[in-house]
Amino acid sequence: MDSKIIDGIGLSRQVKSEVSDSVKRLKMETGRSPGLSVVLVGDDPASAIYVRNKQRGADEVGILGETISMPKTATENEVIRVVNELNSDPNCDGILVQLPLPEHIDEGRVTLSIDPLKDVDGLHPFNSGLLAAGKPRFVPATPGGIVQMLVRTGNDPMGRHVVVLGRSNIVGRPLSNLLSLKGKGGNATVTVCHSQTKNIEELCRSAEILIAAIGIPEYVTSDMVSDGVVAIDVGINRVSAPDRKRGYKLVGDIDFLSVSQKASAITPVPGGVGPMTIAMLLSNTLLAARLH
Ligand SMILES: NC(=O)c1ccc[n+]([C@@H]2O[C@H](COP(=O)([O-])OP(=O)(O)OC[C@H]3O[C@@H](n4cnc5c(N)ncnc54)[C@H](OP(=O)(O)O)[C@@H]3O)[C@@H](O)[C@H]2O)c1
Repeated sequence: MDSKIIDGIGLSRQVKSEVSDSVKRLKMETGRSPGLSVVLVGDDPASAIYVRNKQRGADEVGILGETISMPKTATENEVIRVVNELNSDPNCDGILVQLPLPEHIDEGRVTLSIDPLKDVDGLHPFNSGLLAAGKPRFVPATPGGIVQMLVRTGNDPMGRHVVVLGRSNIVGRPLSNLLSLKGKGGNATVTVCHSQTKNIEELCRSAEILIAAIGIPEYVTSDMVSDGVVAIDVGINRVSAPDRKRGYKLVGDIDFLSVSQKASAITPVPGGVGPMTIAMLLSNTLLAARLH
């Protein structure tokens, strides 16, 4: 693999191997393996793939994963009832409700119903509050994975100007908090851009590390980055590809071909941030088991 390409699959194997070792140790100490319960509501094909990959990752590291599938007609109260059962299940250490939920269900209410000590997605206000207060416990998996990628590839964000495109609760906002924390993996100077940001291209060009999480296929082009930038692509977008068997392909928010000409390091899509997200979810589940 080209040395400038950040190998998310290889890095995720490293993290999973570390988690697997710790799971074995935990089992020797306590006689039990961590348990991860994933709640999947509806039949969104992309969500089904993500959930299957999470289950597979759990199996690989010795975490007892279970998927609870509910029909898309399930009511908010029914979903919350399932979450409450998991909250009081001693074999369940981590709960993840796969988002997005069907439109008739309020994601905020469901997230609030998760026991904060089992909230391995890190989206409960208790955990996002801890992160914002500089005392992170469960960090959302995608931002956590990005920081690990940077540190493990010698691109420590300390003292560098990082531009984050996107301010969602899942990626952009927690990522900007994480990168500006004191300590390892933090200490960056962070600029957060969103749909109301003026002069976004100029801001992108001032980035030493540019992280794109806006959900627009190949939005960042080579004229928007400076030479030597470290480019991290969070986007996962399906675009039509009639020449492919399945009729579509996955691209990121960064135009990989042109930006990779200028970047000193860049993540591919697929095979970049995605695998690290799963690895960090497993790491969070291990942490949850240790806290119980
Ligand atoms: N690799 C992974 O594991 C992983 C995990 C999660 C998400 N993703 C992918 O990452 C992408 C972003 O996901 P998300 O959940 O964070 O998305 P989201 O909730 O839709 O948020 C998108 C963000 O981008 C901003 N934005 C939209 N258009 C913009 C523009 N033209 N210029 C500047 N900012 C703009 C929005 O600004 P406003 O706030 O002003 O609306 C918003 O803050 C998606 O492709 C998603 O599939 C990947």
